Amino acid sequence: MSHRSPDRRSVISLLSAAGLAALSRPEIAFAQGAELPLTPACESHAGVTPRQTEGPFFTPSSPQRADLRADGSGTLLVLSGFVLTRQCRPVAGALLDFWHADSSGQYDNRGFRFRGHLFADRQGRYQFITRAPGLYTGRTRHLHVKVRAGSQSPVLTTQLYFPDEPGNRRDGLFDQKLLMSLRPAEGGQLGRFDFVLAA
Ligand SMILES: [Fe+2]
Repeated sequence: MSHRSPDRRSVISLLSAAGLAALSRPEIAFAQGAELPLTPACESHAGVTPRQTEGPFFTPSSPQRADLRADGSGTLLVLSGFVLTRQCRPVAGALLDFWHADSSGQYDNRGFRFRGHLFADRQGRYQFITRAPGLYTGRTRHLHVKVRAGSQSPVLTTQLYFPDEPGNRRDGLFDQKLLMSLRPAEGGQLGRFDFVLAA
């Protein structure tokens, strides 16, 4: 493919501008580690991000917020990446709506703890700051997310998974293509996932 992939400098500026400004001083050093992951070449994208069931715990109209750290306890997780077309072009302003369980495996079905939506920037980049979800019966560790390019676009509903989770092998919904790349850093974990939309 001849399409130019978003470069490393773009990732760094994303994390510097959007992420670091939101972090407290002790977390800055941690988040700066997020500069290290390289943007994968477009050729590495196996295809459109697979769809998955939304499950029983989706709540519409989540608040717009990209930083859910204050919603509970647990390991800090900084997830970032791109929203891309099949042709590996960034989807400016894409909507990402995340929801997940708290560290004890509970969903907030009355309010919006660990629920929030955000928009990718003009280069299709997003960053979501949260606490790693806990486990609940029958499922491996996961995040739920809906992504769409625009208000008239189809919605991609899917789930993201954590590498090296023992429960992945036992979870019938688990899909290797939905694994985040994840690495530990001082104070938490740095995650990376690029979404590829069909339309
Ligand atoms: Fe779930």
